[in-house]
Amino acid sequence: MLSSLPNGSRPVVLDVQDLRVHYATPRGDVIAVNGISFQVYQGETVGLVGESGCGKTTTAMAILRLVQPPGRIIGGRVLIEGTDLVPLTEKQLREMRWNKLALIPQGAMNSLNPVMRIKDQIGDAITTHEGKQPRDVLKGRILELLNQVGLPARVYNMYPHELSGGMKQRVCVAMAIALNPPLIIADEPTSALDVVVQRVVAQTLLDVKQRLGVSMILIGHDMGLQAQLVDRIIVMYAGNIVEIAPVREAFKNPLHPYTQLLIASIPSIKERKPLKVTEGLTHDLRNPPPGCVFQFRCPYAREICRSLRPQLKAYGVEHFTACHIYENPMLYENSAPIATATRPATPGALYASDLMKEVDPHAGAAA
Ligand SMILES: Nc1ncnc2c1ncn2[C@@H]1O[C@H](COP(=O)(O)OP(=O)(O)OP(=O)(O)O)[C@@H](O)[C@H]1O
Ligand SMILES: [Mg+2]
Repeated sequence: MLSSLPNGSRPVVLDVQDLRVHYATPRGDVIAVNGISFQVYQGETVGLVGESGCGKTTTAMAILRLVQPPGRIIGGRVLIEGTDLVPLTEKQLREMRWNKLALIPQGAMNSLNPVMRIKDQIGDAITTHEGKQPRDVLKGRILELLNQVGLPARVYNMYPHELSGGMKQRVCVAMAIALNPPLIIADEPTSALDVVVQRVVAQTLLDVKQRLGVSMILIGHDMGLQAQLVDRIIVMYAGNIVEIAPVREAFKNPLHPYTQLLIASIPSIKERKPLKVTEGLTHDLRNPPPGCVFQFRCPYAREICRSLRPQLKAYGVEHFTACHIYENPMLYENSAPIATATRPATPGALYASDLMKEVDPHAGAAA
């Protein structure tokens, strides 16, 4: 469905189709990723946003087939340049990872081996996939990679503890681009860094994207940073995609009430304040409600939102959302409102403070 777009003329690097990931728990399966579909085109950066626990990391890990038990991929396809990763053997997958797609994991800088010099860590990433090579050739490549991420040559001989957080993060970017993969997934690459260093790492990612023409998925909370770095934005809520839009369009004309809340929670894009959403998911992912996943927090929820799950559909060029306000305007209009927190008068007038108000999921009376 999502491929019949103007964008469809550009080469697709990643095609995720109806991906489902569950975590088994003693009290039932947590539905962490609930049938999501999206594409990433050559040379573009796609932002994946949504609050803690909505399934961003699980999506990234599933794309790389790195979901660990008790998690498992229940269904779907993950096509990288046309090859589906889901049915591949572990050996075939190892060839694809780093070559075809590289991950900068959440908290990547802490995943560097503390007792290995940077040259050996980057060198290992290369030789594991390409086999042994002459020392001076390998050294030249590592120095060039360090240069590409804006690190001085002296880092070559250093240990991780001798580097700042931002430098370590840039080493992780260097490792990700080492084999020149067409796709890099960066999971919160700038969180846990201070604001100045965040900008340096963000700039590094931009440089890498522009010079290497690599496609990227950038996972993050910081909508301001996303505004500066990504071409399109994917908004997730409780394991589902609720909106996909070109980034300018997402900020100018957000359709889904959740996206509106996310954007309203940054006072000014220029200030680049990190997103502060403290309320958290409102339902148990083991037992999602019928109807819309956002119904308990949505200021516009009506009876139809309780019973019928809205589908992700196009409303404009490359702009998709899953919301009855657009999908079923007549049914929505004729449906009784559900009592929630104080309702803003117009869809545009949502404020971060609305997120803090208690929304009683069991309130049934009309407002
Ligand atoms: N091992 C596990 N067992 C059970 N549930 C899990 C497990 N790992 C993750 N989950 C659940 O899956 C959901 C998605 O988690 P995930 O880590 O993908 O979220 P996220 O969007 O990356 O969050 P964050 O922004 O905090 O990194 C969460 O609700 C989480 O509780
Ligand atoms: Mg995460």
